[in-house]
Amino acid sequence: MDYFALAQAYQTPLYVYDFDRIAHTFNTLKNAFKARKSLICYALKANSNLSLIHHLAQLGSGADCVSIGEVRRALRAGVPKYKIIFSGVGKQDSEISEALQSDILFLNVESEQELYRIESIARDMQIKARISVRVNPNIEAKTHPYISTGLSENKFGVDIEQAKAMYIFAKNAPFLEPVGIHFHIGSQLTDLAPIKQAAQKIAKLAHSLLALKIDLKFFDVGGGIGICYDDEQIIAPYAYAQAILEALYGLDLTIICEPGRLLVGESGVLLTKVVYEKYNGEKRFVIVDAAMNDLMRPALYGATHKIEPLDSINTESSSSARTSSTHTKASVCDVVGPICESGDYLAKGILLPTLKSGDLLLIKNAGAYGYSMASNYNTRPRPAEVGVINGEARLIKRRESFEEMIKDEESLLKG
Ligand code: LLP
Repeated sequence: MDYFALAQAYQTPLYVYDFDRIAHTFNTLKNAFKARKSLICYALKANSNLSLIHHLAQLGSGADCVSIGEVRRALRAGVPKYKIIFSGVGKQDSEISEALQSDILFLNVESEQELYRIESIARDMQIKARISVRVNPNIEAKTHPYISTGLSENKFGVDIEQAKAMYIFAKNAPFLEPVGIHFHIGSQLTDLAPIKQAAQKIAKLAHSLLALKIDLKFFDVGGGIGICYDDEQIIAPYAYAQAILEALYGLDLTIICEPGRLLVGESGVLLTKVVYEKYNGEKRFVIVDAAMNDLMRPALYGATHKIEPLDSINTESSSSARTSSTHTKASVCDVVGPICESGDYLAKGILLPTLKSGDLLLIKNAGAYGYSMASNYNTRPRPAEVGVINGEARLIKRRESFEEMIKDEESLLKG
């Protein structure tokens, strides 16, 4: 990948995604499930760029959405309506009715009240609503508490007894059609055991629902497969699929899985440029042009993103991205952005060689929950995004301009 050329053409900070790698990862996961009918519904929240969704849709992916905005994105990007599912604890009436009108595959219901609301909206619309209940299996996913979702203390889903009651209600409601069962225990999972345990627990529930003549067709195992940011042992897609397949023994259901991070995380980098270096006493800071508003995972979760230096675009005209072999004197530093918060950092206590203004750094594994969580904090425009297919780079989102950031406020200025 010619990062120098990309930085020169599109400036920094810049997100760059390797679309071929995304395709490879998608196909690997899809193949791992080949023994059964399966549907991979990419979780748009990880990265909702339309070109990226379109790329996955062309490979056969569906979409897992958590707002009507994401449902609209999926439809606009070419995901067929029958491959779109809609989850989330706080779906509003307007979102429910639009989702029903759009005739998507199903809604993942997360509470009794939501189920009654869907029933009443479907009745008003005289439409049969396909639903699935998100069951909270109360299993510790062993991940960061902010992204753990499968414990009773988390706001997601309903417990098994409540789920049963909801399915019985849905079976008897003329405007509801229970078609699936769903769980998702957390994100950045690196241990297969809790996933296996959850799948077995929910499969058992599926058996008892089928015995009650509730005609389930889909077994939705959520997303959550982790990637290697630092030195984590990751779950191989094949082992993951085997664990699910084993749990589903004797159940003739289509498997749905909702990966986000796995499909796009390692395929993306955030390219940033060194602005200054400074020492506060002994402490070395490398100040770059990306910040927590571009990539907030380090600031929010203390997440690790490895950072790799490239040679300076100011002094090097070479088109190949060489690593830091020409740099000298590596020392410990914090890589920080220009935002006015001490929490604005991209890496802490890492070894980097001596750098100068204009040097490029690669912030790795930034394809998931990077741009999608970016903001305009400190009136900083969100960065540009580039997708690389067959070695060819294509701009898929322009850098925001100052004018774009303020236009709605300006039009509402008094006087
Ligand atoms: N399905 C459901 C119902 C989810 O809640 C999530 C993620 C996914 C699928 C996709 O999970 P994945 O395969 O990407 O792990 N901002 C955090 C991650 C939040 C994940 C929330 N739910 C981060 O940057 O680590």
